[in-house]
Amino acid sequence: MTTPPPADPVALHWVRSAGELRAALALRLRVFCDEQGVPREIEVDEYDDVARHAVALAPDGRVVGTMRLVAAGTMVKVGRVAVDRDWRGRGIASALLDRAMEYAQGIRAEELRLAAQVAAVDLYRKAGYRPVGQPFEEAGIEHVWMVREVVPVRRGGGLSGIARAVGRVRSAVVPGGSDGSQAGGSSAGPDPAA
Ligand SMILES: CC(C)(COP(=O)(O)OP(=O)(O)OC[C@H]1O[C@@H](n2cnc3c(N)ncnc32)[C@H](O)[C@@H]1OP(=O)(O)O)[C@@H](O)C(=O)NCCC(=O)NCCS
Repeated sequence: MTTPPPADPVALHWVRSAGELRAALALRLRVFCDEQGVPREIEVDEYDDVARHAVALAPDGRVVGTMRLVAAGTMVKVGRVAVDRDWRGRGIASALLDRAMEYAQGIRAEELRLAAQVAAVDLYRKAGYRPVGQPFEEAGIEHVWMVREVVPVRRGGGLSGIARAVGRVRSAVVPGGSDGSQAGGSSAGPDPAA
């Protein structure tokens, strides 16, 4: 029996350039607008100027996954989680969610929150989020709020401690730099959009 070849490695980064941010926004337009029918005029909003954007890069440098984080008080709002159709099912979204936890730990936030599409609830449940409240409709898609408490970083815990706590870092996904050198800051109003 032959061993299957390893999956193509994907690198995760915080957005490092205007070009990377443009590619992340283009991926969101493809996924949310072209695929799911979200109106283009609401897909990109004012929170994109203040969010921390993460990207997953294919070996050829293409942006194949993205997510944005908006900090508000003790809460970090996770939003716009999107993975290129051809790259789904490889753990990219769950690795991005690991990054959200690391970010929240880094700024000592207490809670991660997101508006999950009801069809994607299991993705977030597997990453430790739990639904709260009743489903609601946004952009013609049924959503439900989900929350996850931030796991405090233990002294000396390092990345492996985070990986253990989240339990979802896969070998096919190589965490990239977290220099945060991207456009935008990390704070926003109290109830940022998903
Ligand atoms: C939802 C989406 C982000 C998932 O990305 P992905 O990289 O394929 O997800 P992962 O491979 O990290 O999946 C992690 C786990 O969640 C599960 N999962 C992923 N997407 C799921 C979905 N839509 N419904 C139920 N479970 C899902 C996977 O089966 C996997 O479980 P396993 O580890 O037990 O096999 C991607 O399918 C996508 O971009 N969809 C369109 C946009 C969208 O719906 N975004 C979510 C907005 S709330």
